[in-house]
Amino acid sequence: MEPRKERLLAYVIVIVLFLVGVVSYAAYPDRKHEQPPRVMLKNTAGSVLLDHKQHSISSGYAVPCMDCHHEMDDEKSRPQSCNECHTAEGEDTPKRSDAFHQLCKGCHEDGGIGPVECAGCHMM
Ligand code: HEC
Ligand code: HEC
Ligand code: HEC
Ligand code: HEC
Repeated sequence: MEPRKERLLAYVIVIVLFLVGVVSYAAYPDRKHEQPPRVMLKNTAGSVLLDHKQHSISSGYAVPCMDCHHEMDDEKSRPQSCNECHTAEGEDTPKRSDAFHQLCKGCHEDGGIGPVECAGCHMM
């Protein structure tokens, strides 16, 4: 092949690969930031199933991310697990059960909607 044609071919290949990259990136976004549809919170009083999707989507209960993930800088950042700071005993931070009861039960009580009885959340 002529050098000019070779170079043209190389450019074409680079452009095609670039477009493939763009399309793949758009079609398969970083899945690490994806929210779990449901979260099973295991504990000694009986596991609690949080319908994460239903609580956060606007057609559901529309609770803003940062109302629960209070340590997030913005909605795009990756939240840390509550357990990383709220331990079972709780030393510097409120202990896990207190934090969860305040958050979860608190909103259900204030809104007059959602379970407030132990068995409404804890599956025995
Ligand atoms: C009603 C409270 C609540 C709302 C609202 C909420 N989350 Fe969560 N989310 C949780 C809890 C609880 C967990 C489990 C955390 C744990 O395991 O310690 C969790 C887990 C996650 C995880 C998985 C974290 C991991 O490391 O496994 C991601 C990602 C996440 N949430 C993102 C979001 C985003 C984004 C929004 C808003 C669109 C949102 N959450 C709204 C309570 C909530
Ligand atoms: C990076 C550490 C960190 C993470 C992660 C974290 N918290 Fe906290 N949380 C704290 C600290 C520190 C406090 C006490 C100071 C404050 O109110 O900000 C607190 C306070 C709270 C309170 C208020 C409790 C009270 O007695 O005033 C609630 C409720 C709460 N956290 C729930 C959660 C939930 C639910 C998650 C996970 C979705 C979570 N936190 C993740 C550090 C964290
Ligand atoms: C800011 C408000 C708010 C917070 C915070 C919140 N909830 Fe809810 N929750 C609701 C609403 C609204 C409903 C809908 C009740 C209905 O439609 O009957 C609900 C319903 C529920 C239900 C029963 C129906 C379902 O969707 O499963 C469970 C279980 C539940 N919440 C668990 C939790 C847990 C666990 C947490 C804490 C990690 C939590 N909620 C935090 C508002 C909240
Ligand atoms: C709105 C939901 C909700 C209601 C109502 C609720 N809890 Fe909880 N509870 C939770 C969540 C969420 C946790 C923390 C789970 C975790 O550690 O990941 C928890 C934790 C606990 C723990 C700590 C267990 C451990 O292993 O550290 C005890 C004990 C407990 N709850 C008892 C009760 C009792 C008793 C009632 C009724 C008076 C009650 N809960 C009502 C959601 C609820």
